[in-house]
Amino acid sequence: MKKLGVNFDHIATIRQARKTFEPDPVTAIGIVELAGADSIVMHLREDRRHTQDRDLELARKIIKTKLNLEMAPTQEMIKTALDIKPDTVTLVPERREELTTEGGLEVALNMESFKKYIRLFHDADITVSLFIDPDLDQIKAAHRVGADIVEISTARYSESKSIKESETNIQQIINAVITAEKLKLGVAAGHGLTYINIEPVTRIDAITEYNIGHSIIARAVFTGIAEAVREMKNKINARP
Ligand code: PXP
Repeated sequence: MKKLGVNFDHIATIRQARKTFEPDPVTAIGIVELAGADSIVMHLREDRRHTQDRDLELARKIIKTKLNLEMAPTQEMIKTALDIKPDTVTLVPERREELTTEGGLEVALNMESFKKYIRLFHDADITVSLFIDPDLDQIKAAHRVGADIVEISTARYSESKSIKESETNIQQIINAVITAEKLKLGVAAGHGLTYINIEPVTRIDAITEYNIGHSIIARAVFTGIAEAVREMKNKINARP
């Protein structure tokens, strides 16, 4: 059975837009796990624009499935990860000015650094996933530095502007997955996957895990909005 990791950043983004207490991503953990999520993905960014340290600390205590912490490999984040001890760390590149993670890691040109990070996490019994573009050199480098999993970025595929472009991009993902599988790496995929574009990606058997956020939270707004309106209307009309 393929696994689904639900990315919680988007719940925190709504909260941070108002700097208030709701929606609290921590409250969603039990609901999301009951619905079948196999892991909760949280990205603690350097600028704390969505997930906060407190979310991560509480999440670690509550999560019954697995916590997958996405993070840039900076000194501060490595220290946080070693304190929090997520089940998996997914290393991602991070730039302050980006709206979301753009592109995968440059592993091939930074092998010594990645070897060092991965050794630190392995010593703490933390599984390491590297978020990379569907690029064969990066996959081979991920294997050489000792990664357990590669999360293949589906960003380019999800941004395809035509069927032809989409087919080319899916073929690149397939080639990357074949290489990763041969090297006995675990294979995950994520970024920009939606209810509309996911089907061709689900046909790639060796991808065993999908990490999805924006589309699920966007859908939840619509599947939940009617009930939310009804509840508020009832409140307005309830006499004490
Ligand atoms: N995987 C990684 C490594 C990501 O950085 C993100 C975005 O935070 C996702 C998966 C989820 O992407 P989306 O929100 O587009 O589903």
